[in-house]
Amino acid sequence: MSLKATAEAPANLAFVKYWGKQDSDLRIPTNNSISVNLSKAKTITSVEFDSTLNEDQLSVTNRDIPLESDFSNRVFRHLDRMRSLAGINQKAIVHTQNTFPTGVGIASSASGFAALTIAACSALGLDLTEKELSEMARLGSGSACRSIPDGFTEWIAADINNSSYAVQIAPADHWDLNIVTVVVSKQAKQLSSTYGHSLAMASPFFKARLESLPVRLETVRSAILGRDFDTFGRETEMEAISFHSIAMTSPIQNPGSWISGAYYWLPESLELILSVQQWRGSGLGVYFTLDAGPTVHLICLHKDLDRVISAVHEVESSRSDRKWDILINDPAMGAHLIAGDDLE
Ligand code: PMV
Repeated sequence: MSLKATAEAPANLAFVKYWGKQDSDLRIPTNNSISVNLSKAKTITSVEFDSTLNEDQLSVTNRDIPLESDFSNRVFRHLDRMRSLAGINQKAIVHTQNTFPTGVGIASSASGFAALTIAACSALGLDLTEKELSEMARLGSGSACRSIPDGFTEWIAADINNSSYAVQIAPADHWDLNIVTVVVSKQAKQLSSTYGHSLAMASPFFKARLESLPVRLETVRSAILGRDFDTFGRETEMEAISFHSIAMTSPIQNPGSWISGAYYWLPESLELILSVQQWRGSGLGVYFTLDAGPTVHLICLHKDLDRVISAVHEVESSRSDRKWDILINDPAMGAHLIAGDDLE
């Protein structure tokens, strides 16, 4: 009997960020976070368990940066969790591909571990609830738990049973938002988010951020539910700066070198951030956010999408030597099974 399944999962974009963990092994965050699934940034993964294999195998297509052995081991450890739950020992072949560049500030570990969780659980015959799937995905990569439910989701840091998982706060078609994701560089970031989380508490501003988050979470959640674009956009933009302020003020002590903080932006990220302020001044409804990388995500209502795209192209073409990848995202459904032949 073939134990095989294929799944597709979206990357998600955090409006309120996860940065810092209460428990690193279990990936339990210090705060709730809120995100939306992205329709144009997906991972497709097939998993096949096979009793004739002696070891797990991982193959990755469409990857711009080399595959580190750390990453493969993380994938295999995640398979172990699901194998142990199913009581099945067979090794697996995992084949995965992303529709977007890796390591530039689009959450590829979120889409990757969400797709792996859905495909492997199905192949192993595990019949888990959405909450259980979200918890399982979280153990692979924290933000992957938010790519399981559809649409707009909130990751509950830890409930009274100390369980930590994401729930839907609104379906994908709740709001006609677009996320224009501008990949200003495909060079992978130097500092992984896993490492960044471990540094966060060293920032002198971390405590103040944590204290401010309950109000911010409530404001962003209500603004999404009430489709209040300006409140939502302002909070989201200020939240992005709050998160980057923590990253930039968390010092890194390497042997022989001291770095004052994690700087994920590139000059072109800042060029877009400044442009957004000007565009708003001239009446265009657009806000930005950035995750742990130089990619800038522009958020607008669908009615303003064409104007936002033209404005981005204008900035892009102000220098003839650059060509940005631009993904035009809608809010999307969460991770789900698909027919195996969708994988190249
Ligand atoms: O799940 P990780 O370890 O890739 O961390 C994600 C961190 C941010 O993207 C910066 C914020 C977030 O909530 O997605």
